[in-house]
Amino acid sequence: MTVAVEQLSYRLLRFEKLLLQNSNNSSSMGNNLIIKNAAELVTCSGFSAKTGSDMSDLQIIPDGAVVIENGVITQVGTTAKILSETNVDQYTVIDAEGKAVLPGFVDSHTHFVFGGYREEEFGWRLRGDDYMDIMQRGGGILSTVKSTSEATPEELFAAGKKRLDSMLTFGVTTVEGKSGYGLDLETEIKQLEVMTSLNQSHSVDVVQTFLGAHAVPPQYKGQTDAFIDFLINRVLPVVTSRNLAEFCDIFCEQNVFSVEQSRRYLNKAKEFGLKLKFHADEIVHIGGAELAAELSAVSADHLLQASDKGIAEMAKAGVVATLLPGTAFSLKEPYARGRDMIDRGCAVALATDLNPGSCFSESIPLIMALATLYMNLTVEESITAMTINGAAALGRHETIGSIDVGKKGDLIVLEFPSYKFIPYHLGVNSVEKVIKNGELVFNKLAFPTPI
Ligand code: NIG
Ligand code: FE
Repeated sequence: MTVAVEQLSYRLLRFEKLLLQNSNNSSSMGNNLIIKNAAELVTCSGFSAKTGSDMSDLQIIPDGAVVIENGVITQVGTTAKILSETNVDQYTVIDAEGKAVLPGFVDSHTHFVFGGYREEEFGWRLRGDDYMDIMQRGGGILSTVKSTSEATPEELFAAGKKRLDSMLTFGVTTVEGKSGYGLDLETEIKQLEVMTSLNQSHSVDVVQTFLGAHAVPPQYKGQTDAFIDFLINRVLPVVTSRNLAEFCDIFCEQNVFSVEQSRRYLNKAKEFGLKLKFHADEIVHIGGAELAAELSAVSADHLLQASDKGIAEMAKAGVVATLLPGTAFSLKEPYARGRDMIDRGCAVALATDLNPGSCFSESIPLIMALATLYMNLTVEESITAMTINGAAALGRHETIGSIDVGKKGDLIVLEFPSYKFIPYHLGVNSVEKVIKNGELVFNKLAFPTPI
């Protein structure tokens, strides 16, 4: 039944897309599109990570319009100016009257390809079990490793596609995805290959990260250095020679991989040509933020326990601080010091950390609500953190993350007139339409009421 409803919804979408392309105000101009009359066009304009007061400046154009040609933004301005200079007959037109238009969201930290679920573990944690203890006794990440290794590529593809579909409806147009539920050559490669196929077939762009060093597998228990050697000698060469990842990640954490082990591993990953982003100072402060600065990582993620020194060094080194408040919420841990990080000059990004254990959520509005209410970011800062700074956390600030001429035509239309509704409408999706590469790929209005 659910499947039938989903299929109908998507069929309707495709039908509407066809209608749009063939309607009278379009001469079927491929993906040449104008969005006009936006109550506010929240451009987030910029081509690099934003810090300090720049994070609050969303560069809004009231009554704004955008032109997208062949998937790329070619004009940004007021509706009056753009309509006076453009022959609208050549374009598909979306009227965004009474609605805010923003760049597509960039979810720069997720583990969205995995087998099985861990709903029982959620209950254990409610009864007081500790997240790390569950993992030490073979559950947690290791239980997802088992179900992911047992899943076929087709099953992982179907599960990953379903999650990407859902993320897209939340306005996510680019997502980072990590391996790390294999911890052996075969399953790590399987996860990465599934992401490659999803990237090729789905509207959402997938940026791939190799996280073979996510946990020490049972066969290497007590031999963490030998496991790192295995990853360096046997897995990294395959991942990089087959171009299966752009970034390398490690769970740098007490009782998992130490700072010394992380430094050795990440330096090798760099030699293999991978960029660095890693889980740092999540549960215990061990100097992950400092290491990220030392290695010039693109981002350091989580940072719940980052020290003042680590924050200062990250700001100086230009490491993006990727904060994942959904995980702190779900694990009942103290939140990362987002306010301090911005005040001390860090570029802060926000992401969901979607995974089956510590944060099973793809809800962008939930993340923004937590960031504003519990990490004391302003609404404006949280928008910047989810757009241009998310793009910077993936090294893609020059091509996505803002509505600027030359960037990809990845945009969202809200059902409300202002971006301010996103965290305010607590955990509920305010996205009405998603445009990817200039094409309408999601429209809530196509299936507005239950049947
Ligand atoms: O970002 N901390 C390590 N990794 C993930 C959780 C993975 C899991 O629990 O399956 C995180 O929280
Ligand atoms: Fe994570």
